[in-house]
Amino acid sequence: MTKKPSKKVRESAVDNHTYKIFPNDLNHYGTAFGGMIMAICDRIALVVAERHSRKTCVTASVDSMHFLRPAGEGDILLFNAAINRSWTTSMEIGIRVEAERFQTGEKRHIVSAYFTFIALDDHKKPTEVPAVEPETPLEKRRYEEAGDRRESRKKDAEVRVKKRTNIV
Ligand SMILES: CC(C)(COP(=O)(O)OP(=O)(O)OC[C@H]1O[C@@H](n2cnc3c(N)ncnc32)[C@H](O)[C@@H]1OP(=O)(O)O)[C@@H](O)C(=O)NCCC(=O)NCCS
Repeated sequence: MTKKPSKKVRESAVDNHTYKIFPNDLNHYGTAFGGMIMAICDRIALVVAERHSRKTCVTASVDSMHFLRPAGEGDILLFNAAINRSWTTSMEIGIRVEAERFQTGEKRHIVSAYFTFIALDDHKKPTEVPAVEPETPLEKRRYEEAGDRRESRKKDAEVRVKKRTNIV
């Protein structure tokens, strides 16, 4: 049996992608609109998934998207995203967003999230992706934790299906 190809985390990671918050990015409280931040996260996580798989990918789910602190007008958003683990056709991408005050350089962690993407073939069917080869202690920890989250996602999906069919 041939070994599945693997790729390193750093081959697909996005480091410190910046986005400057302008007035049209604000909600009526004067802080950055969460949906705008979510959309950028989705795009950046997609880039990581497509770089890792070199296939067209779609978002299957997003879990644990926590808005920890607000960002305001003039702040610079910094997005960091990396693949945590892949399975047969799916990949978990972790993303962390910080807001930097341009006047002082002070940074606050504002959002973290985990995205699951599926790679598709030319017929839009799920297709195999390379394995992830974690190298650093941090990458190894994220790899292990992604396994636990996948189990939780599967259990949640089972409960949803059972509820829909009124078995629970
Ligand atoms: C995502 C999608 C391709 C999965 O198709 P499917 O027929 O359910 O696929 P399968 O059951 O064969 O599962 C394929 C993989 O997706 C994973 N998956 C399916 N639904 C998932 C979910 N809600 N969350 C996380 N992973 C999911 C499975 O675990 C499996 O992973 P694996 O191959 O690594 O084990 C399909 O549901 C889809 O097209 N959804 C719409 C996607 C979309 O429009 N996104 C927004 C725009 S990009």
